[in-house]
Amino acid sequence: MSERNLDFDTVINRKNTGSLKHDYARQRGKRENLLPLWVADMDFKTSSYIVDAVQKRVEHGIYGYSEPLEGYFDAFHDWISDKFKADIDKKSIVLAPTVVFAMAVAVNAFSKEGESVIIQSPVYPEFRDIIEDNGRKVIVNSLLIDDEFRYQIDFEDFEQKIIENQVKVYLLCNPHNPGGRSWQRDELKKLGDICNRHGVVVVSDEIHADIYFRGHHTMYSAMGEEYKSNSIICTAPTKVFNMPGFQISNIIIDNPVLRLDFKNAFKKTGYSQLNAIGIVAAETAYRYGEKWHKESLAYIKANIEYATAFIERYIPALRVMKMDATYLMWVNFNGLGISNDEQRHLIEDKAGLWLNEGKSFGPEGEGFWRFNLACPRSILEKALEQLKEAVNNK
Ligand SMILES: Cc1ncc(COP(=O)(O)O)c(C=O)c1O
Repeated sequence: MSERNLDFDTVINRKNTGSLKHDYARQRGKRENLLPLWVADMDFKTSSYIVDAVQKRVEHGIYGYSEPLEGYFDAFHDWISDKFKADIDKKSIVLAPTVVFAMAVAVNAFSKEGESVIIQSPVYPEFRDIIEDNGRKVIVNSLLIDDEFRYQIDFEDFEQKIIENQVKVYLLCNPHNPGGRSWQRDELKKLGDICNRHGVVVVSDEIHADIYFRGHHTMYSAMGEEYKSNSIICTAPTKVFNMPGFQISNIIIDNPVLRLDFKNAFKKTGYSQLNAIGIVAAETAYRYGEKWHKESLAYIKANIEYATAFIERYIPALRVMKMDATYLMWVNFNGLGISNDEQRHLIEDKAGLWLNEGKSFGPEGEGFWRFNLACPRSILEKALEQLKEAVNNK
């Protein structure tokens, strides 16, 4: 058997599949028929190995309570150790439906109501939401932008805010969404040393770990025992294999004390066995998905290069952030000299695009818009042409 789903050019109609990206414009206050380049899933069919395994499982016809068998943990272990040189103990793996669910559990497990949790803004909006929704205080360490137009961390401010607010938990986004920074080992060590000095538990969201185009991904816990023993690493096959609808993630918690606290907080949610189909899909992805993964990355990398070159050439007032990872391009529109509302009007009403608005990632994101580049090239070309036209006719 070989991989069949390596055609990333074909445009597949996702309408009327209950797709958040394609079917929910009106419910989300948008015009119908905007070209959607927003929420982070791909417009590509996943690996044919996954499709076949799911079909086989579906044909069985009995979908009772299910838990992964030994082979699942072997497949996950091998994927992680091969990709990230991380030595994980299979005992340390805790399954959860989604990464955001697991992070919310971690916030509950490692802080009390009213206590502080630190994030680096702008960041994926759910980071803020799970802190606030659980009655904790959001502490913000704003990211800085350097001369090369890349995010950098203000370490002094990070440590000072931790001390001042007696922060209990740090939600790290690695690679960072938005902005696509793969944090480097020396940066992660600095952050980790600060957290270890002040008793802050590190919850590292590494859902985009496999999707990088420059350098490599450093798994936080792979840097050494002192980082491993004070962290919760949130991984999932869902972004990389385009199957977030299957709701399955693998959380690595090496320290047995932290693991027990996490499991106790998890139990309080009432959630137990996972989605039976998701288990099959995830194991298959880790075991047989490599080829699809490599080819989809190459396709997305070419999309990123295309989009960056197009914008530099035809819409030079926009500025693209230099990215290492994720398929999410972060673009600043302030060079157009118009307000945020006018930018939205231009993007949605004139260019007919549905992008993620930067300020939803925190006030630092205002003036930026996030483009999802995991789509067929023809869609990307259309989107960029529409944007060019709109800007030219402004
Ligand atoms: C950084 C980050 N974490 C988590 C998620 C969501 O993951 P899940 O659906 O597993 O909660 C996303 C989705 O865009 C993301 O970008």
